Formats: sequence, C-alpha cells, structure tokens
Amino acid sequence: MAGSAGGRVRWAVVGTGGISRRTVRDLIASGDADVVAVASRTQETADAFAAEFGLAAAFGSLADLCASDAVDAVYIGTPHSTHFAYAKTALEAGKHVLCEKPLTMTADEAIELGEIARRHDVFLMEAMWMKFGPGVQRSLELIASGVIGEPRFLQAGLGYPVPEDGPPRFWDAALGGGALYDMGVYTVALAQLLFGTPTSITAGGAMRPDGVDLHESYQLEFASGASAQLVTSITFLVPPRGWIGGTRGSITLDEPLFSPRSIRVTTGRPPAPPEVETIEFPPEDVGYLPMFRAVNAAILAGEREHPTHPLSATVDVLRTLEQIRSLLASAPSTKG
Ligand SMILES: NC(=O)c1ccc[n+]([C@@H]2O[C@H](COP(=O)([O-])OP(=O)(O)OC[C@H]3O[C@@H](n4cnc5c(N)ncnc54)[C@H](OP(=O)(O)O)[C@@H]3O)[C@@H](O)[C@H]2O)c1
Repeated sequence: MAGSAGGRVRWAVVGTGGISRRTVRDLIASGDADVVAVASRTQETADAFAAEFGLAAAFGSLADLCASDAVDAVYIGTPHSTHFAYAKTALEAGKHVLCEKPLTMTADEAIELGEIARRHDVFLMEAMWMKFGPGVQRSLELIASGVIGEPRFLQAGLGYPVPEDGPPRFWDAALGGGALYDMGVYTVALAQLLFGTPTSITAGGAMRPDGVDLHESYQLEFASGASAQLVTSITFLVPPRGWIGGTRGSITLDEPLFSPRSIRVTTGRPPAPPEVETIEFPPEDVGYLPMFRAVNAAILAGEREHPTHPLSATVDVLRTLEQIRSLLASAPSTKG
C-alpha cells in the first residue's frame, strides 16, 4: 500500500502530453507534495519531460513506474480511453490515483476501479478540478445561504471548433473522441452537483458513423422539479459559461465554466431594477491548485475518496453521459 514520506505525497505524472504539461507546475507548487517521477510510453520522452520539469526519475512504461517504491500517487493525464487500464494498473500496484476526466468511458468501469481501490486500500478520484475551484465553491456557499432562493435551473455550455489537426483526443474514436466525454462531463457534473441524479434526459445532436459526437444539446430533469439545459460542441463555438436560476435570483458563472474568473450574483424582483454583485477570483496559476491541495490533504489524512468529488458522483455522471450518448446514437445526424 502506498504511504507518504515524511508527511508529503510523492507524485508521479503519467503521460507527457497537453494536460500534463499544463498542470505539472501546479502539482509541484501544491504543497505537502513532491513530484518525483514521470512515466511515458517511451524512455526518451520521459527523460525529456523529467529534465524540463526537474523530476528525479523517468520511466519508459507505467509498469516500471508502478514497480518503484519511491512513488505514492500517480496523476494520469492520458487520453480518455486509456484511463481505465492505466488506473487499474496503478491501483493494483498500491498507488493512489488522481485521473483526468472522464475517469473511465463507462460507469461500470468506474465502479470496478472503485472496488480495486478499496481492495488495495488506496485513494481514487477523477480530476474534476471545476468542483474545487473558488468560483463553484463560492456559488455553492451562496446557494446554501439562500441568496438566490431555491435553485431551479441551470443553463451551461462549452464548445469550440476544434481544428481537425487539433488534439487527437477530440477526433479519434479509439481514444474516446467527441464533445460529450471531454466537455459534457463538466456540464453534467455541474448540473448533478446542484440537483442530484436526473430522472429524465432528452438529447439531440450529431454523431459521426465512427461514434465521435460533434455536438449535442441535452436537457436533464430532476425529481425536485429543477432542470438543466446543456450544450457541448467540437464544431462550433459555445461560450464557456453558465447560469443558475433560483426563485429569488441567479448566479452567472463567467468564463471559463470549469474555472470561472468571476461570478455575478443577481437579485431583485422585476419591475425593480436588478442588483448585480460581481465577485472576482484572480487566477492562481493554471487553476488546479485547489484540487491538488485538497487531494494531498486527503491522502495524507488517510482518506480513500474526497467528499467534494466522491466516486459515486463520477459514476452518476458517467451514467448520464451513457444515456445521452445512446440517445444521440439512436437518432444519428452527421451534420457538424
Ligand atoms: N482538465 C482539463 O482542463 C483538461 C484539459 C485537457 C485535457 N484534459 C484531459 O486530459 C487527458 C489527456 O488530454 P491531453 O490533451 O493531454 O491528451 P494528449 O496530449 O493527446 O495525450 C496525452 C499523453 O497521453 C500519453 N498516452 C498514453 N497512451 C496514449 C495513447 N494510446 N495515445 C496517445 N497518447 C497516449 C502520451 O504521452 P506519452 O507519449 O508520454 O506516453 C500523450 O502525450 C484527457 O482525458 C482529457 O480529458 C483535461
């Protein structure tokens, strides 16, 4: 079982692509942690990444990393479809796992990872950084304080025309490509954070014959009467924003939805003019620090999940994504 050396978590990064390069500095700066290693599919790439970011060890395979007892925890930053196998390997080696979103491509796979983590007594979490950021945390506090009354509605979207020579994770069906699992995982996670598990789902959009979804809009209904209207796309621009409507006011989550730089709280009942308070959150590095700090603290405290984003929430979101995907597949359109 992974421990921690001298009250610090010894991390390794898995994968040397886009997200690992963006987040590794935040992980290094997260306190109570040392990033001690990287694993890549090739030794040369691992060596180059380790040299660039000053990491002590470089492994040419995940298996080699897992054999090292100098590593307590791994951050997996590889394409979606690889997450299950990589996380399983690491958990079975007794490493704590923080894995990029979506944790897996199916809810059943996430449940299986949870069972493996429990068996090996290690921490497991999907890197849903949006939930840990100050914009979403402050919004939850404001909602709990009753400022906007009862929250009843969420509208949120994320999308941009991804160039065809852009990141393969968007376009390659074998890597889990498409808008829904990459971007929809945020919109659905936000809706379900606010309202729980949906009782009904409708969806429309476009999916290529190989299963890569190009865009979709979907509506979730909840037992409380709340609803969420969500849209994601890799072929057209959807401003990365959202707003939560309540019985006495609303909260607008400004760009970018997964790490809002500001929120706007609007209160007042028409015909009186609305009162708008803007709350700003100065960017703190890439924005991963709150999540990394929280995960470090949880691991050092011996926790096996984090209450802000437990595995049950990941599984619930994956179930919704599966349903949306099957609705898109049953009414296919290829119009991007
Ligand atoms: N939270 C966020 O803001 C955010 C942003 C972007 C991406 N992500 C998530 O991060 C994950 C990776 O995205 P990315 O943009 O970093 O992807 P990427 O650059 O295309 O790939 C990441 C790395 O994964 C490794 N890899 C392992 N198996 C692979 C395989 N079968 N095919 C291709 N690469 C493989 C490669 O590193 P080696 O060559 O070293 O093995 C590659 O460079 C995705 O799941 C995505 O959802 C999150």
